[in-house]
Amino acid sequence: MTETSELKKGLEGVVVDTTAVSKVMPDINSLTYRGYPVQELSEHCIFEEVAWLLWKGELPTPAQLEQFAQKERSQRALSPALLDVIRHYPKTAHPMDTVRTSVSFQGMEDVNAWDQDADSIFEKSVLLFSKIPTMIAADYRCRKGLEPIPPRKDLSFSENIFHMCFGKVPSPEVVKAFDVSMILYAEHGFNASTFTSRVVTSSLSDIYSAVVAGIGSLKGPLHGGANEEVMHMIQEIGEPSKARDWMLDAIEKKKKIMGFGHRVYKNGDSRVPTMTKYFHRMASIQGGGKWVEISQILEKTMVEKKGIHPNLDFPAGPAYFLMGFDIDMFTPLFVMARITGWTAHISEQLKDNRLIRPLAKYTGEPQRTVAPKTSGR
Ligand code: COA
Repeated sequence: MTETSELKKGLEGVVVDTTAVSKVMPDINSLTYRGYPVQELSEHCIFEEVAWLLWKGELPTPAQLEQFAQKERSQRALSPALLDVIRHYPKTAHPMDTVRTSVSFQGMEDVNAWDQDADSIFEKSVLLFSKIPTMIAADYRCRKGLEPIPPRKDLSFSENIFHMCFGKVPSPEVVKAFDVSMILYAEHGFNASTFTSRVVTSSLSDIYSAVVAGIGSLKGPLHGGANEEVMHMIQEIGEPSKARDWMLDAIEKKKKIMGFGHRVYKNGDSRVPTMTKYFHRMASIQGGGKWVEISQILEKTMVEKKGIHPNLDFPAGPAYFLMGFDIDMFTPLFVMARITGWTAHISEQLKDNRLIRPLAKYTGEPQRTVAPKTSGR
């Protein structure tokens, strides 16, 4: 580090590369994927179209979508070897750890795991997109002592995860709310896990290693793990009448409140209004008015006292809860979505790669000498 280099803790405000995948615009509270606002994609597209958009740069034609959907559906099943490994995971393991291990195993099964040309990266991206939900659902079933349910080729991506977890597909409203959450979670610039995947890729390591590292980063409560923490918090509060005092006490004690704040958005997260709409829709369908009330009081109190706004995890957590998912499944569901963004970035990194290798300001001992050892005599 030279005398003139400025230290930027947490890389805040540092621009490390270019990207054409998405644009985060905190000043106007907007997020676009390949130029399209996420709100419009959420209302007018299904997740499969958005996945294609992130990888290919354009929305698919009907023929491309049909071909892609067929391929994705045909690759969903896991190998007997991976299913066997999943059956033997410790029952106490967190599902983020099991999906991390399953992706790593999938990489070992790919004899061409190292191929890094654009076509191979696309093929492997689609493969992971197809199989990750099956990994997550199989583990969910095995942990409960139930048989995994094989994927169905006649179901969409979002319908299929409900089928594989619960053995039934819910109403179209519930499937739509889930699909919207996938679209909103799919991509978000150089967030911690995406940057992690790009760092791993920059050493020319393989795509599976980069995705495994991304999962490890996403697991942390300051990143994707927050959606689970939000639901634990709302459950702990329990009643709307307790929400304001709970928040005032947490602020007083200077606690970090999960689901609030963002490194980039300081005046609100552009994805929150859309997800909140679908969270409220879930609450009216599934009878979760109490969770809506608690969350509204928490948000009002936090904004009033600290001016800190909720992020996407705040409405997504309770929405997943109302859809029937266990709380420790929430971040793995985020993985199912973000695999699209990670792999789009891995592909972009490989197209114009330079090893990512920053500097650090040394604050340890000044240089010193090792004292020669005296002999024992
Ligand atoms: N609860 C309470 N205070 C918060 C807060 C939160 N969730 N988020 C930020 N703040 C406060 C900090 O205490 C700090 O206050 P100070 O200047 O008085 O010390 C200030 O806002 C800046 O926060 P900081 O942690 O430095 O911002 P950051 O850009 O490094 O962190 C997050 C961003 C997302 C890590 C942070 O907001 C956070 O931890 N949020 C909770 C976890 C979460 O929801 N993560 C999902 C992100 S999408």
